[in-house]
Amino acid sequence: MSADTNVRFNVKPGGSLQGRVRVAGDKSISHRSIMLGAIAEGVTEINGFLEGEDSLATLQAFRAMGVDIEGPDAGRVVVHGVGLHGLRAPVAPLDLGNSGTSMRLLSGLLAGQAFDVEVVGDRSLMSRPMRRVTEPLASMGAVISTTENGTAPLRIKGGQKLQGISYDMPVASAQVKSCLLLAGLYASGQTCVREPAPTRDHTERMLSGMGYTVTRSHSTACVDGGGKLRATSIDVPADISSAAFFLVGASIAPDSDLLLEHVGINPTRTGVLEILRLMGANIEVFNRGEVGGEPVADLRVRSAQLHGVDIPVEQVPLAIDEFPVLFVAAACAQGRTVLTGAEELRVKESDRIQVMADGLQALGVKAEPTADGMVIEGGSMTGGHVDSKGDHRIAMSFAMAALRASGEISIDDCANVNTSFPGFVDIASRVGLSVTNG
Ligand code: S3P
Repeated sequence: MSADTNVRFNVKPGGSLQGRVRVAGDKSISHRSIMLGAIAEGVTEINGFLEGEDSLATLQAFRAMGVDIEGPDAGRVVVHGVGLHGLRAPVAPLDLGNSGTSMRLLSGLLAGQAFDVEVVGDRSLMSRPMRRVTEPLASMGAVISTTENGTAPLRIKGGQKLQGISYDMPVASAQVKSCLLLAGLYASGQTCVREPAPTRDHTERMLSGMGYTVTRSHSTACVDGGGKLRATSIDVPADISSAAFFLVGASIAPDSDLLLEHVGINPTRTGVLEILRLMGANIEVFNRGEVGGEPVADLRVRSAQLHGVDIPVEQVPLAIDEFPVLFVAAACAQGRTVLTGAEELRVKESDRIQVMADGLQALGVKAEPTADGMVIEGGSMTGGHVDSKGDHRIAMSFAMAALRASGEISIDDCANVNTSFPGFVDIASRVGLSVTNG
């Protein structure tokens, strides 16, 4: 959404991270709270909603389809649900900005509507692969066109009769799984999605929390079409993907001791904790609780000497958004870190393997990109100039790298940090990072 490519972070080297913070609300849960709240019956009150550009794009899309939504006001949003069949045709294409989650989940939900709709996004989103959702949706009876390359704009034809399918996902993707389950709410019969490895299950949890039966065996989730969702209240925990920058920052910066409050620790999201622990990080989990069917806890992280590891391939989908910052951890570790099985990183908001390798090399790190991962020799890092290529997570990862660099790091094209973590610069500064936003 942010067309401004001129936002640059300048980060002074050194320092430590200390104190306590509650990072931004969970992006995945925020998206789903709007989507499911909108098609539920009754009023859903959301607290802790992420007021970032991605989740706001979802919110605006539902407003454009006639849903009355109050807020956001300090993380509080009230969604007046219109029921499964109460959405109305928007007058213009829905612009989903930078948000892959909005586009992929919405395509499933929109495939079941009575009206035609077009969805578009920014340059990054319009170049991301969409056949992974349009093909299985077509086999349910949806009519959706893409460009020849399988990218947006997606033109979704309304009034189709969807039938349930049993789909074996070729890639481990929560976005594809969620898309098909949402289409399944509108389909006749049962829709089942089997995943090749566990992926985040927020959609299944929230559907169940809203009284919609989701049948789950270890690798398959199924819904029957034609039910109803009951509005509820949703408390969005802090996003472990945003906490990850601080988990790595406090691990690599000497004399750090940081408390991260009320972080979502859903087991389908905690790969970053497992991988950092394997590397020797000192992270304590306490005050465990549960909010709205999602586990939460406080995380205390202290500096530690990290060492290189072979990242277990089964952890990859459980830490899929955290690899940019895990690469920074690897660059500060003793020895070699090897990541494989992560080709999905090449089709995120940027090609995260190439863009991270380029940035690390610019800081003097021996980082070799491979087709499906990276090999990083840990050691020292210089200062320098890197380009985030408009990728929020890459911008924030290199900001944390400065804690261990020998000179200042400047990072270009950082405006999209606002897609997932507005307030990052303020929060990071408050706990000890010398970052300014130019
Ligand atoms: C998300 C799923 C992941 C993740 C994305 C958010 C979600 O994508 O990378 O940031 O909310 O479902 P994939 O499921 O495509 O891996």
